[in-house]
Amino acid sequence: MIILIGGEKGGSGKSCLAQNIAVYLASIKKASVLMVDCDPQRTTSDWIQARNSDESLPQINCIQLYGKIRNDLISLERNYDFLLIDCGGQDNLALRASMSVADHVLIPLRPKRRDIKTVPHMEDVLSTCKMVNPKMNASFVMTQCPSLPNQAGRILEAKEVCKSYGINVLDAITYSRNIYDDSEEDGKSVLELDPQGKAGNEIIAIAEEMLAMQPDNNYEFS
Ligand SMILES: Nc1ncnc2c1ncn2[C@@H]1O[C@H](COP(=O)(O)OP(=O)(O)O)[C@@H](O)[C@H]1O
Ligand SMILES: [Mg+2]
Repeated sequence: MIILIGGEKGGSGKSCLAQNIAVYLASIKKASVLMVDCDPQRTTSDWIQARNSDESLPQINCIQLYGKIRNDLISLERNYDFLLIDCGGQDNLALRASMSVADHVLIPLRPKRRDIKTVPHMEDVLSTCKMVNPKMNASFVMTQCPSLPNQAGRILEAKEVCKSYGINVLDAITYSRNIYDDSEEDGKSVLELDPQGKAGNEIIAIAEEMLAMQPDNNYEFS
């Protein structure tokens, strides 16, 4: 299964989500996972480097790929249960090539106007890619949400805008929590820094809601 974490907004939490979902799949689901870093900023590659230098953490493989990567992804998919692609923040060739083979495209957005403004363009890109890849599912996921009760309306409004473009929005969200930032530093997931914590539960809920949308969700892991 190929999961692409994409979108064109920097700082929305793409790399953070890709990394945490990778650990969920590898450590909790016991799946074989390859992270594909398409971002020239190498955020995920640096995280993997920090991670794999700590022998107490289960290792995760990562490669960097740029440009027309469709065929590379198709052949890599044969060797892993999951490919998790971190596409960086631009509408580029690697993003579109990944969308042409992805099973699920997950697009994180903060419930903020500048993030929400990217929804029409993302819908455009998604519908183009869906013509060559009709099996693709796509979802927006709200990230870094404010936890104050009087801000809940903003989250709901942002979800409504996404839905008005006909794209699924996950019920599961992430709230703004320092543990996301703190865990990244040492190549960890929030699931490893605080296994019973609220952030870990957010990641599990996001991953499970996404997997449940896949037509063949009884994955047998090698
Ligand atoms: N739910 C969250 N709460 C608080 N900080 C977050 C959350 N999600 C991501 N971040 C932080 O936001 C910053 C940008 O995230 P990142 O994943 O690098 O964004 P992107 O890859 O989309 O540019 C990072 O410092 C990350 O730790
Ligand atoms: Mg990133």
